[in-house]
Amino acid sequence: MSEVVELAEAERRSRELASILPARISPPFTGSFIRSATLYDEYVLRLTLGIFRTTGLAKAAQTPSTIDELIARVGFEPGRARVPVDWMLRRLSHRGIVEQIDAAGGPRFRLRGEMPELDPGEILEAQRQQDSSWQPSYVLAETVAQDYPVFLRGERTGEEILFSPSRLRMWVNFFSNDNGLYVVNNLVGAAAVAELMPPAPVVIMELGGGLGSGATALIDELRGSGRWAEVREYRFTELVPFFLRRGQQALETRFPGLSLLKFAALDMNRVFTGQGVEPGSVSLVYAVNTLHVARDLDFTLREIFGALGPGGRLVVSECIRTAPAQAIYIEFIFNLMETFRSPVLHPTYRPNGGFLAPEEWRGAMEAAGFVDVRMLPDIPSLRARFPHFQVGAVVATRPA
Ligand SMILES: C[S@@+](CC[C@H](N)C(=O)[O-])C[C@H]1O[C@@H](n2cnc3c(N)ncnc32)[C@H](O)[C@@H]1O
Repeated sequence: MSEVVELAEAERRSRELASILPARISPPFTGSFIRSATLYDEYVLRLTLGIFRTTGLAKAAQTPSTIDELIARVGFEPGRARVPVDWMLRRLSHRGIVEQIDAAGGPRFRLRGEMPELDPGEILEAQRQQDSSWQPSYVLAETVAQDYPVFLRGERTGEEILFSPSRLRMWVNFFSNDNGLYVVNNLVGAAAVAELMPPAPVVIMELGGGLGSGATALIDELRGSGRWAEVREYRFTELVPFFLRRGQQALETRFPGLSLLKFAALDMNRVFTGQGVEPGSVSLVYAVNTLHVARDLDFTLREIFGALGPGGRLVVSECIRTAPAQAIYIEFIFNLMETFRSPVLHPTYRPNGGFLAPEEWRGAMEAAGFVDVRMLPDIPSLRARFPHFQVGAVVATRPA
């Protein structure tokens, strides 16, 4: 059964959300956004079914098998394939297409019956009619789906597939405030900063600023609410030179003559002081969907802690896992990246790669010395009613 909701139901959910979300957070969660999110989930599911069929996984899963047995039977490269195959099996189990059987040597998976034939094109068309601004997200998923088989067989790395020069335009379109899927991360993050910015003068350092859409949304928010005068410096940082150049260009074009914008390369996996960030020199560290790819989250959080002055704040806008084995649609894409799949693990706050749950963010931040860790919106109180509400900002403070 498709989980796509009709607009009337999506609008009902939007009204219900608006009655419980903080006023600053609720505007992007319209009926159209909520319906689009269900359409995209269905699109990704249909692409997954195609991969399941063409790679031979569907045939292999006619016999109850563990993930490792399936991977061996279809000839995938185990190191790369384990996380995405696990994700596909969880997604298809959730939809009732695959049955998960708990067994002594770990769960076994079996196809329940005939594989449904579901056309992704129908969903793309429904999305075009609903809101065409989601199109870059569809292009990305479709492009990735085409290369999934070569990735799973170990013939190309995910990084080669995702970041080949001919595909950079795809990322420019995806990490954009014009992309209906992506913009909500930036709006929620900007609202959280506006809500919890420390006292002036504020030195903001953004990590993984990418193509500048997060910074644009934040600067727009602070200017719109009259708070920009409190900012003394906005240090935009990024690891990938192409993104840093494009991000700088985008921001300088959008905000000409804004002299307090500074640009620098920064790798969050390396000691910050060796990269020109003095201890205690920053009052707010901001990052949109970046910290979950830190190689060692504890290391990066401690570096951030050291860069902040007393009373300084960390604000991260992140995709949040609301249930332990939840298969989130965007993981279909990012499971190709080694940094996403395989960070340094920690038994309580980093039990797996990918996105973190609210308790894991809290645990990781507190372990690094932060206090007063809060979520905006408060996902733990929302998740029973809205299990697919998966975007939130986590805010933490370096004690004074
Ligand atoms: C989800 S994107 C952020 C997109 C950005 N907010 C925008 O508007 O374009 C995550 C960013 O983290 C960057 N990144 C990945 N590893 C990093 C590292 N080790 N240090 C700093 N940035 C990193 C990526 O290059 C990417 O630009």
